[in-house]
Amino acid sequence: MRVLFVCLGNICRSPTAQGVFESMLVERGLQAQFEVDSAGTGGYHAGEAPDRRAQAAARRRGYDLSAQRARAVRSADFQEFDLILAMDRSNLENLLRVAPSNCAAQIRLFMSYAPSWPAEVPDPYFGGDQGFEQVLDMLEAASAALLDEVAR
Ligand code: 4NP
Repeated sequence: MRVLFVCLGNICRSPTAQGVFESMLVERGLQAQFEVDSAGTGGYHAGEAPDRRAQAAARRRGYDLSAQRARAVRSADFQEFDLILAMDRSNLENLLRVAPSNCAAQIRLFMSYAPSWPAEVPDPYFGGDQGFEQVLDMLEAASAALLDEVAR
C-alpha cells in the first residue's frame, strides 16, 4: 500500500505524519507492506528540511524527520499512490481540483480515520510550540486508526 501525506508547505504537518506513520509501521512490523511519502499542495518550501520546531517536537517523541525534504504534489502522485491523505479541507479541495480524471488514488482527510478527533489538523506554522504538540497527538491517533483499519 502506497500512502502520501499532504499539507500546504510539506514542512510541518505532512512530514510529521510521515515520520509518525513510518515509526508505527516499524513498531508493527509492517514496513515491507507500505511505501510512504509526503508532499505539499504548495511548492514554495521545496527542497527544505522540515521546520525546526516540527523536528524538535517530533524528536522529543522519538521521531526523526531530519532526512525529509519538501516537495510539491505532482500529477504522477495520483497514479503512484493508493491513498492520498490531506491534513485539512483546504488541502483536500486543492487535491481534488488538480486530480486527473483517471486518478487511481483514494483522496480523503487523514483525520477521517479517527472520528473522535477534530476533522482537520490545524496548521501550526504561525502559532506556538503547543500547536506542534497538538499536531503530534492528532497524527499519532490517526496513524494508529489507519493501521487498525488496514489490519481489519
Ligand atoms: P504545513 O505548514 O502545511 O503543515 O507544512 C505550513 C508551512 C509553511 C507555510 C504554511 C503552512 N507557509 O505559508 O510558508
